[in-house]
Amino acid sequence: NPSNVEMGENSMLEQAKCRAKGGAPGFKVAILGAAGGIGQPLAMLMKMNPLVSVLHLYDVVNAPGVTADISHMDTGAVVRGFLGQPQLENALAGMDLVVIPAGVPRKPGMTRDDLFKINAGIVRTLCQGIAKCCPNAIVNLISNPVNSTVPIAAEVFKKAGTYDPKRLLGVTMLDVVRANTFVAEVLGLDPREVSVPVVGGHAGVTILPLLSQVKPPCSFTSEETEYLTKRIQDGGTEVVQAKAGAGSATLSMAYAAVKFADACLRGLRGDANIVECAFVASQVTELPFFATRVRLGRTGAEEIFQLGPMNEYERAGLVEAKKELIGSIEKGVSFISK
Ligand code: NAD
Ligand code: LMR
Repeated sequence: NPSNVEMGENSMLEQAKCRAKGGAPGFKVAILGAAGGIGQPLAMLMKMNPLVSVLHLYDVVNAPGVTADISHMDTGAVVRGFLGQPQLENALAGMDLVVIPAGVPRKPGMTRDDLFKINAGIVRTLCQGIAKCCPNAIVNLISNPVNSTVPIAAEVFKKAGTYDPKRLLGVTMLDVVRANTFVAEVLGLDPREVSVPVVGGHAGVTILPLLSQVKPPCSFTSEETEYLTKRIQDGGTEVVQAKAGAGSATLSMAYAAVKFADACLRGLRGDANIVECAFVASQVTELPFFATRVRLGRTGAEEIFQLGPMNEYERAGLVEAKKELIGSIEKGVSFISK
């Protein structure tokens, strides 16, 4: 089958590779949208991750090329490519973790919600495949608008009878990565030493950095708070404008996605105290989904942390975030349940 793109891996070679690895523990990871701006560097970084034993690269275009390229890297993971809808089920069968950066990105002047029309349908189709072929996989959903695509995925899984809220995680890691970077700049610290919780959702005012909870403990003037909050909320738009029509964040997103996926895999492995922010089903507020710090374990988001003490500025931000978030969540839910 010429459209079958299990590149560079005839089955004998693949078996030999698996033997050579001595059955080393590792997880099976699929990337859906692997030929895209995020997908390609994400695939490369996942191929470098020692926790990954099998890497499936799925896209509707160019999966063979990306797979051939990545498969030459002399790292442990066995790479296989899958092209187009007929190969989606093979791409997903047996996966432990599925990372989804499939879908169109913004151009200048667009909101993330403007992507709903195209991306909602893409996410629905991919999640139907997950429900059928790897219903126990952890799902990391990157496709925008995350505030709506996560509720869409939840409804698809509910309809299929496979929904486990612990296993569905909207990726907000890029907001945390940006917050750590911008806060470190202001404080004159190494960004690796800084940890900023970012809660709420992943669009504009729904992105709520909790600067009063930054580690190491520090304080900001009201001008610094205003500057940092706005810059973190508008970080995506800053990149969209700089790329001037050529898409949105891809390289920093691939970095953030692999940081988050690696945390999920360490959780799956049973490591203790793996805590990251993610957009998940939640009872922390009255909204059905909310991003907060979560503890990742063998079954996904095993513990969801409360918001913690917030100052007046953050409490006002929370009100604004919830106002927008509720509509985005409802829009996602009704896309499936209508
Ligand atoms: P891109 O256009 O470069 O790549 C998207 C890829 O998805 C393409 O290769 C395309 O062929 C593929 N695709 C389209 N339909 C598909 C389908 N049905 N099945 C599988 N693959 C399909 O876009 P990008 O820059 O990689 O961004 C992808 C998405 O990620 C966008 O929606 C963007 O808004 C979002 N994003 C989210 C965050 C976040 O923080 N969560 C950050 C950056 C970008
Ligand atoms: C981001 O935050 O960079 C992404 O959500 C992409 C975008 O559209 O801003």
